[in-house]
Amino acid sequence: MNRLSGKRALITGAARGIGLEFARAYLAEGAQVAICDINIDAATAAAGHLGRGAIAVRLDVTDQNSIDGCVAEVEDAFGGIDILINNAALFTAAPLTEITRADYDRIFAVNVSGTLFMMQAVARGMIHRGSGGRIINMASQAGRRGESLVAVYCASKAAVISLTQSAGLNLIRHGINVNAIAPGVVDGEHWDGVDAFFARHEGKAPGQKKREVGAAVPLGRMGTAADLTGMAIFLASPEADYIVAQTYNVDGGNWMS
Ligand SMILES: NC(=O)c1ccc[n+]([C@@H]2O[C@H](COP(=O)([O-])OP(=O)(O)OC[C@H]3O[C@@H](n4cnc5c(N)ncnc54)[C@H](O)[C@@H]3O)[C@@H](O)[C@H]2O)c1
Repeated sequence: MNRLSGKRALITGAARGIGLEFARAYLAEGAQVAICDINIDAATAAAGHLGRGAIAVRLDVTDQNSIDGCVAEVEDAFGGIDILINNAALFTAAPLTEITRADYDRIFAVNVSGTLFMMQAVARGMIHRGSGGRIINMASQAGRRGESLVAVYCASKAAVISLTQSAGLNLIRHGINVNAIAPGVVDGEHWDGVDAFFARHEGKAPGQKKREVGAAVPLGRMGTAADLTGMAIFLASPEADYIVAQTYNVDGGNWMS
């Protein structure tokens, strides 16, 4: 399959998890991929493992100098960027009375400001080159509704859905389609941490929360990163030319909107 042949992609937070799976899928479709992550050692190992067409670049999405430097480095290496996936994010959870300003600021700096200012930096280059592009933001079912212990993360992902709508409306005049994916519960290192949190706060045995959320998915199991790659390829392909400012649930039926 060569649905992304000749395309140049920058994926944030791609050193592991869903972003890494997207990198693997995009390479298989013929794209070049920059694996951009704050964990440069893991990003470098991932790029080395993936081989030809993959590069690793250090990126901290909370730091404007890092954003500007990373985008410039990828543009230099590939000659431009056609696709941005804003995938880097942090998760946090706490009862409302225990949320700290520091934690709120940390989560919003990565999940919300990081998404906005990465879109801005990459879109400027896309507009300058005049050949359009694709931006895919990683939202979440958490952005569709509140959760008792997850107020800050849910609000940050609701903000990602809103930013996708505004950026989508603003950038389509330049031929840049901005859309988002809202996964449900996707097994991996991220969910290992979520499971550990609920073990502490709800007295659950390790692994119990994962089993519960998996059983509650209408399809009958937690998702995998590979379950999301079809949508990530589709949204970057010419078949999605007429799709603008949308957020697609890919969640085994967890949420309908
Ligand atoms: N796993 C799920 O169940 C799930 C569900 C819904 C949405 N999502 C979203 O999908 C995306 C990927 O999730 P995942 O499970 O693969 O997460 P993950 O925690 O496994 O990976 C996140 C990556 O982001 C990187 N990162 C963190 N802070 C960064 C920063 N400041 N700058 C650059 N990189 C940074 C990390 O080093 C890591 O490699 C996230 O946006 C997440 O919110 C995940």
